[in-house]
Amino acid sequence: MTDRPILMFDSGVGGLTVLREARVLMPDRRFVYVADDAAFPFGAWEEPALRTHILDLFARLLDRFSPAISVIACNTASTLVIDALRERFPGHPFVGTVPAVKPAAERTRSGLVSVLATPGTVKRQYTRDLISKWAQKCHVRLVGSDNLAGLAEVYMREGFVDEDAVRAEIAPCFIERDGQHTDIVVLACTHYPFLVNRMRKTAPWPVDWIDPAEAIARRAMSLLPPVNGSSQGEPDIAVFTSGKADFAVSRLMQGFGLTIP
Ligand code: DGL
Repeated sequence: MTDRPILMFDSGVGGLTVLREARVLMPDRRFVYVADDAAFPFGAWEEPALRTHILDLFARLLDRFSPAISVIACNTASTLVIDALRERFPGHPFVGTVPAVKPAAERTRSGLVSVLATPGTVKRQYTRDLISKWAQKCHVRLVGSDNLAGLAEVYMREGFVDEDAVRAEIAPCFIERDGQHTDIVVLACTHYPFLVNRMRKTAPWPVDWIDPAEAIARRAMSLLPPVNGSSQGEPDIAVFTSGKADFAVSRLMQGFGLTIP
């Protein structure tokens, strides 16, 4: 018998940035990647509707895949619904992805940190609480981007990215104050690490870009018992809630070692 899979959840391709780290750490595990593309972008949803939507969807996903653990590889979803998921499905472990404010506050030298996220994550109380808990001594600028997650989707499917659009989206992250400059940008959306090279290229000065993917994968690993044998033979799969994966998406999933059933 093979071990139960790890379920990775996002609105689109962003969770693949976490999946690739998880694979390195847990090569013997089986993965089910769920892209709720029918609901993309999560960042634009009203909170109550998105909460209900994700809770209902998870009831079906847990039933269908019976995962050992679920990783919410999405800041926009985690900052809204991680507590509600734990409450609604007690006994099932969930790992969330929330803005890496604490490591940013520990690392900054200038005291100027920016959190780049979807408009949803930026307005969450959860995000504000993280800042007041961990970053009181810093100046944290929250930058909500309407377009970066979509740009990352296009880039991953078609290989094209509009650099001027990336430049415009990240520009508000860069602040100069009393001779100090922003030195850390937290990538608080799992889609963004796919664009980080373009961000580096279009940034007005060099900064540290914090991607929490490895830390999330480590957290998931720490909560799992050792594998019972290897999952070889059972393919890792990708599920799209729209039921429509076109050629570009299928090819992308193949590149990540995922089969669309
Ligand atoms: N990847 C998601 C996140 O980490 C957001 C993308 C979306 O708006 O759906 O926040």
